Amino acid sequence: MAGGYKYFEAIEKHAGLLGILTAIMVSIGGLAEITPMFMEAHKVQPADGVKPYDPLRLAGRDIYVREGCYLCHSQMIRALRFETQRYGHYSVASESVYDRPFQWGSKRTGPDLARIGGKYSDDWQRLHLQDPRKVAPDSNMPGYPWLEKTPLDASDIQARMRVLRMLGDPYSDADIASAPEALKDKNELDALVAYLQGLGVKNEPASMTAASPASDGGTP
Ligand code: HEC
Repeated sequence: MAGGYKYFEAIEKHAGLLGILTAIMVSIGGLAEITPMFMEAHKVQPADGVKPYDPLRLAGRDIYVREGCYLCHSQMIRALRFETQRYGHYSVASESVYDRPFQWGSKRTGPDLARIGGKYSDDWQRLHLQDPRKVAPDSNMPGYPWLEKTPLDASDIQARMRVLRMLGDPYSDADIASAPEALKDKNELDALVAYLQGLGVKNEPASMTAASPASDGGTP
């Protein structure tokens, strides 16, 4: 035993050695936590009704990212009672399989948008995006009046879909071939509204809507 203490003493008296050994231990701990998550990730299957984005919604999603909507809006409902009461069922991984990059986020200057689809009419969404003060007088959300005036750029939609297919989204050749047609004569506002109106609509886990396990407490 006495020999063991000598080792401890040697380590404690050498800050460098202590630092290196601490880093090694923390790395081992970290790997033990992180590696299993990577092994599990590919097993997550799309929830019922979750489909890859159609071309218009995909284009709208790109505009959402381009305009930085994620800087004020999360898309992840946490499994806490006050969240599920306000926003609906908490988010699950199988809803986000086709979201690259995912838009979960944590910054909420505005409300969570994970299940915003269908909450308002298309007209409301259009008016709100043009000038939020028209429908929410105290809103500090910026207006995006240029979206309606900007025709949708369809030139790279096929390339985008092909990349997503490489990553595993099940687009068929026909889906990709017909994509530019679906964007014809649309403007950026049309695409963004289509994207918003699809959020969380088809993918709320059906088995859990009525009696949400989170409705009586905090943990998932
Ligand atoms: C500076 C922060 C900010 C940015 C950036 C922002 N929003 Fe908002 N958003 C808000 C706030 C605050 C509200 C709540 C007041 C209101 O309805 O306008 C809101 C509300 C909303 C709502 C209504 C939510 C509900 O449940 O009533 C939608 C939809 C929305 N924003 C979409 C967007 C989109 C799309 C973008 C990007 C084009 C965007 N927001 C960018 C702050 C922001």
